[in-house]
Amino acid sequence: MNVSAIIPAAGSGERFGEVKQFKLLVGRPLLFHTLKPFLQSKNIHEIVVVVHQDDLDATFRDVLSISAGKSVKVVAGGKLRQDSVKNGVDASDSNSTLVCIHDAARPFVTEDLIQKSISACENADGSVVAIQSQDTVKYSKNRTVEKTIARENIWLAQTPQTFNKEKLLLALDNAETNQLTGTDESAIMEAMGYNIKLVEGDSNNFKITKPGDWMRAEAILHQQAQGNLKND
Ligand code: C5P
Repeated sequence: MNVSAIIPAAGSGERFGEVKQFKLLVGRPLLFHTLKPFLQSKNIHEIVVVVHQDDLDATFRDVLSISAGKSVKVVAGGKLRQDSVKNGVDASDSNSTLVCIHDAARPFVTEDLIQKSISACENADGSVVAIQSQDTVKYSKNRTVEKTIARENIWLAQTPQTFNKEKLLLALDNAETNQLTGTDESAIMEAMGYNIKLVEGDSNNFKITKPGDWMRAEAILHQQAQGNLKND
């Protein structure tokens, strides 16, 4: 079974205040940290990185220098995240049966999460790495509470999200035809009635969205480096 990793990294960084994918996080571009476990994973056959048109050449050069023999493609993204993902899936190897999609902005993904996300697709159309809500969840549209949702049934979606490639392409087509915009790919797979499994994620696998998240990421990397020094 061939698995292509798709790494959407073509966002504009609106909520962060700047494009962050290439910003140095403890000495290395954010994208490097995110790609590392995919480059090391035996379960991933190729990686397709999706970036803004203007960053194609520079990204290709940087990625080539760390690819260590694994096939890595770099393609241009689109306006919406799902446009970027579609471009990535279209560029993936025709022999791939699964695609493992992971946000460039989540640098603490691990080989273990990647493997679990792929294994969960053995008996399903796809899988979503997610964590259970620790907080009580309120539903509100205008800051007045409408109801409380049982938190044991609430899962907060992360990535990797791995899908049957053929079915994901059908779901992407359906989303385009019916003008559905999902904040993740699972949403458009769910709209097709496909069977999506949940895989227990990790609170460290957060998405760097706001400046405070960047500081949290730096603190974790410094802590990890200290741990490594102690173990040496
Ligand atoms: O916007 P969101 O938080 O969902 O972004 C998640 C990931 O999708 C980020 O890594 C971002 O770079 C990427 N993205 C993209 N193309 C877009 C918008 C977001 O590749 N048009």
